[in-house]
Amino acid sequence: MKNPSHQIANLMQHAVDNSEDRPPLKRPIGSEHLGQCEDCRGNVRLIKFDDGSEKETGCRCEAKRYANDKQRAINAKSYEKASALHGDYAEKTFNDYRAADQAQARALKLSKRYAEAFDEMLKKKQNLYFQGRPGTGKTHLAAAIRKVVRDQNYKVLFLSLPDYLGKVKAEFDNANTTYPIYKMAVDAELLILDDVGANRMTDWEVSEIFRLVDARNGKCTIYTTNLKSSDMTASIGLSRIFSRMMANTETIVLNGDDYRIGGPE
Ligand SMILES: Nc1ncnc2c1ncn2[C@@H]1O[C@H](COP(=O)(O)OP(=O)(O)OP(=O)(O)O)[C@@H](O)[C@H]1O
Ligand SMILES: [Mg+2]
Ligand SMILES: [Zn+2]
Repeated sequence: MKNPSHQIANLMQHAVDNSEDRPPLKRPIGSEHLGQCEDCRGNVRLIKFDDGSEKETGCRCEAKRYANDKQRAINAKSYEKASALHGDYAEKTFNDYRAADQAQARALKLSKRYAEAFDEMLKKKQNLYFQGRPGTGKTHLAAAIRKVVRDQNYKVLFLSLPDYLGKVKAEFDNANTTYPIYKMAVDAELLILDDVGANRMTDWEVSEIFRLVDARNGKCTIYTTNLKSSDMTASIGLSRIFSRMMANTETIVLNGDDYRIGGPE
């Protein structure tokens, strides 16, 4: 066994050797007032050092930006956790979507553009409404959008409407929920409501959907549905929802073959 004091002596020797390689500490030799930062109102100064280098201080914008970015990443993660993508939908991408006809090509193009220019969509408060027969790739494209927008650290909530309603119901029995799903859904920068109409549309459901869709006014929401416009206007309750869903909304109709049962070859 090695003598421990020997080892310590070795380490110290090493430390002393290293310190000789280190550049000497630079000292400030003067400073110049550059003015006030317009954003954080900090007094910006230029500090000059004896080794000829200079450094700006006083602006807290960079530190703020850093803290902000960190917070955004944390938020994006919690929204991802609250999302529910069944099966392998979290892995669906634009690259594995094959456009077999013109409608699908348009759907792919619009979806890609929506995801890649999401900051612009946010400003325009743009919504998307995917309507069409089962197995035509509506959820696939919505999931691919989620992935791209989430990777830009936006708060993206992806839930099927039945899952959303199930969560709301479950929270009635559990009064001390910290982050009610309704609040998360309202606050999401992008809400993706998959499978609108796959629920039963009881009076309670219709009123809950209305409450959500109404509160999402002026925000970015993506809907997918099998329902036709005529289904969505079958009652006054549904009409009031549908009218709000259609405000500032691009409709994407997909009515090709069902991919699940051996769609386009
Ligand atoms: N154009 C396509 N290219 C590649 N895969 C596709 C395409 N369309 C659908 N799929 C695949 O087929 C399956 C069903 O598609 P998806 O779930 O997106 O259909 P949907 O339109 O949401 O159907 P539903 O109305 O029943 O919810 C998924 O695995 C999806 O990845
Ligand atoms: Mg679907
Ligand atoms: Zn600043």
